[in-house]
Amino acid sequence: MCGIVGHLGNQNAAGILLEGLKRLEYRGYDSSGLAVLQDGSLAVTKRVGRVKELIGAIKQAPVESTIGICHTRWATHGEVTEENAHPHLSSDGKITLVHNGVIENYNTLRSFLTSKGFSFSSETDTEVLCNLIAYHYAKEAETAEGSRFATSVRKALLHVEGTYGLAALCANCPDEMVGARHGSPLIQGVGREEILLASDVAALVSRTPDVVYMNDGELVHIVGNQFSLTTLDSEDIKPVINTVDWDVSEGELGDFEHYMLKEIFEQPTALENAMRGRFSQDGSTAKFGGLNITPQDLRQIDRILLCACGTAWHACLTMEFLIEKYARIPVEVEYASEFRYRNAPLDKNTLVMVVSQSGETIDTLAALRESKRKGYTTLAITNGVGSTIARESDGGIYQHAGPEVGVASTKAFTSQLMIGSILALYLGRLRDMSFNDGVEMVEGLKQIPSLVEKIVQLSEDIHRIAKKYVHKQDFLFLGRQSMFPIALEGALKLKEISYIHAEGYPAAEMKHGPIALISEDCPSLFIATEPDTLSKVVSNMQEVKARKGQLIVVRSESCTMPEGLADDEMVIPDCHPVAAPILASIPVQLLSYHIAVERGCDVDKPRNLAKSETVE
Ligand code: F6R
Repeated sequence: MCGIVGHLGNQNAAGILLEGLKRLEYRGYDSSGLAVLQDGSLAVTKRVGRVKELIGAIKQAPVESTIGICHTRWATHGEVTEENAHPHLSSDGKITLVHNGVIENYNTLRSFLTSKGFSFSSETDTEVLCNLIAYHYAKEAETAEGSRFATSVRKALLHVEGTYGLAALCANCPDEMVGARHGSPLIQGVGREEILLASDVAALVSRTPDVVYMNDGELVHIVGNQFSLTTLDSEDIKPVINTVDWDVSEGELGDFEHYMLKEIFEQPTALENAMRGRFSQDGSTAKFGGLNITPQDLRQIDRILLCACGTAWHACLTMEFLIEKYARIPVEVEYASEFRYRNAPLDKNTLVMVVSQSGETIDTLAALRESKRKGYTTLAITNGVGSTIARESDGGIYQHAGPEVGVASTKAFTSQLMIGSILALYLGRLRDMSFNDGVEMVEGLKQIPSLVEKIVQLSEDIHRIAKKYVHKQDFLFLGRQSMFPIALEGALKLKEISYIHAEGYPAAEMKHGPIALISEDCPSLFIATEPDTLSKVVSNMQEVKARKGQLIVVRSESCTMPEGLADDEMVIPDCHPVAAPILASIPVQLLSYHIAVERGCDVDKPRNLAKSETVE
């Protein structure tokens, strides 16, 4: 959701900035821009389209400077045009700004600034903030030059309502950059002879492993290769430098055509990493390093509330099923975006858990903060090491899935399911689950990576199936019990990358409405992996067939179908029931992927979407 990079050092900034921006493109990709301070003035280059358009423009008209900022945009205010792209330049030419977030009172500020003689060339809230900084910079004429720019940013931000992660340059300050954060992530990279700012560590790690995660309400003033961190009220903050352990090559595409496919194939490793070191020595339960909550306290929990958005919300629905089944603790699942505005009655023995791949989703973060404000113990499951959600929760579990670059979540989803399964085991063993059941479950979990390895090898078979359904405009995804969330996730995957309308339902709900959609043009994908409900699911399939609907079935080896019922089948190995949601997810991901590619869609950067939703 918009990516920012800033650089101040002693090498040419443009190459460094553009390399970082490429790594942030998953955050938004409708337009991009770069500003450097060159020969005493701010030179801004912007392009509509992908970052490669900007790279092409800079190649044609190179810029020379050791200081610069850049941005890749996911539009909030104003259409996708060059005028609306960042960096914005104040109308007096003094300040340039890149911004992630939303300035809510921008209309009032815009009227004020217009009355003071500032003009606007875009429809954006960011240009308003840029001019507001320029207004304060002009007003601070008496302030000593060394602190005038930072003071003007600080003063401007005190008048702002909304969220921001930002980086700014001033034409009069060739050696200074200012960054600030409130509600949208901003991280500083501290190199030997350079300081960087970025929305995500991904943009920094090729330059330096040393980073400072900024918190809300903080402002950084960088002068040369020194920086000072303060609150907006100018109180000094001692920066904490973290060293990130990130293999840059993990984020590269390698031999794969798309990140999504690469990440689907990475699932055996991601799942292995999610399990590593998390089983007890006696092989009957689990252990977690960072829960920060004792087994005694966990035994007192009588309810769990799970909050998340999108795919992570589907993971929560599966976790609900697993935790209730194996640990017998009542679980509720809420959309984080709804929970934050609802005064849900919770009691003191409720544990609130948030799930977020990025650890930066604003709604999930807000749900976490609201829960903490009300005094609940909070845990986070996240892939975002050092992310805001990881830092602000009382404890948590890292997914260790490695960087997920494809906008459509795949390996992060299954690794969340893995963490949820291990947690269900742990909570179950703290309560009623027997030693033998625990051992059996651990064995079932340990088999998952090798079973997933077998399933990804079906990719080409699934590709052949996908070709038959490329021109459909509607799809139903149906599954029962723990397969219902997988049906929802399958529908989401298909619609977000192929733009085919798809809906997920519990299979038995079909007759209460969705059956009206069934026709030759609306295929149904059933997930049938559970022998207990198989006969019922097969009846639902017959109902589809009777209405000339095509049937694609994901089934386990032992869940056999009546001869000729399914038009296409994707067969996964038999497994422990805890493993089935993970295993069933893989063919569904592959089918969506191949359909989308066959339709010519950009699967890694689907239209209108961005990864890491840091605005509401
Ligand atoms: C869909 C997808 C999104 C995210 C959602 C939450 O493929 O990736 O639905 O799951 O935006 O993101 P995180 O998990 O980063 O909080």
